[in-house]
Amino acid sequence: MVAGSACGKVILLGEHAVVYGHPALCGALRDGVQIEAVPGSGILSVPAWGLRVSAVKASDGSDLARAYGAVLASLGIPPSALHHDLVVRFSIPTGAGLGSSAALSVALARALGAILQIPLTPDQVARAAQAAEEVFHGRCSGLDHTVAQQGGFGLFRRPDGLVPLKAPPLPLCIGLTGRPRDTRGRVARVAELYRDRPVETRTLFRRIEELVEAAARAVTSGDLRALGTAMDENQVLLGQLEVSCPEIDQMCQLARSAGAWGAKLTGGGGGGCVIALSPGAEAAVHTAWRRAGFTSFDATIGGVEALAA
Ligand code: MEV
Repeated sequence: MVAGSACGKVILLGEHAVVYGHPALCGALRDGVQIEAVPGSGILSVPAWGLRVSAVKASDGSDLARAYGAVLASLGIPPSALHHDLVVRFSIPTGAGLGSSAALSVALARALGAILQIPLTPDQVARAAQAAEEVFHGRCSGLDHTVAQQGGFGLFRRPDGLVPLKAPPLPLCIGLTGRPRDTRGRVARVAELYRDRPVETRTLFRRIEELVEAAARAVTSGDLRALGTAMDENQVLLGQLEVSCPEIDQMCQLARSAGAWGAKLTGGGGGGCVIALSPGAEAAVHTAWRRAGFTSFDATIGGVEALAA
């Protein structure tokens, strides 16, 4: 039985600045994660990670165990109440900046509500997911778990949340650098830059905000050339924030040479994924990446109906 599910996410523009209250343009990947419930004693297993953790020992051990403990504590569920095991199945690459941990956190809260027949409010799910996300990533804006929970497409800004935008489906090429994204480390590095060079860093954030606003206008008016230009400039600024890496830079360059209108990292950076906007040149972008040894796939954001919270 599928007891809980949640979406993955793509940040089109605005990651990192969003942690400081600036907006980000983002959309859901409909199939993020599903959690199956089978009779058992509260074991949470993630076959893709080779991990099995017990609800009883959830407060110590791996990040997964502590995140599980944080969700249980947030929902006020004692381990003794659990008479099911939960099995996590991802439909998106994990550790890649596509919101897999947030999807897991939201789906876990939903699954626990379902198996215990507790009617959870959207706020309860959000708070439980936020507690788990803080275990996985430390300081975070809340964007990932909000999109995992609500689906859709729009502008996210702290503390307002996600304001939906009507956008036509937007096809993207997504390429994996092969290096895990380093959200925690990159968020910490940006915090250092903010502390040591506040004026320059705030200037970068303000320019990112202008790009996010331009990109939102471009998406809603169907001007994908302008969206690609904004993505490219956002990538330059992310490089200045020290959240890119050589593989990301190489993949962006390969995508542009193959005909992409814009390319950038998505999510925490330091590894993870590159997104390329390549109308009509998708095959060429995938070929260029694959020849260089990278794996990739197609995905669509926007045009995704919001899920029940
Ligand atoms: C991670 O997917 C996005 C970041 O902006 C962190 C956050 O928003 O919490 C890097």
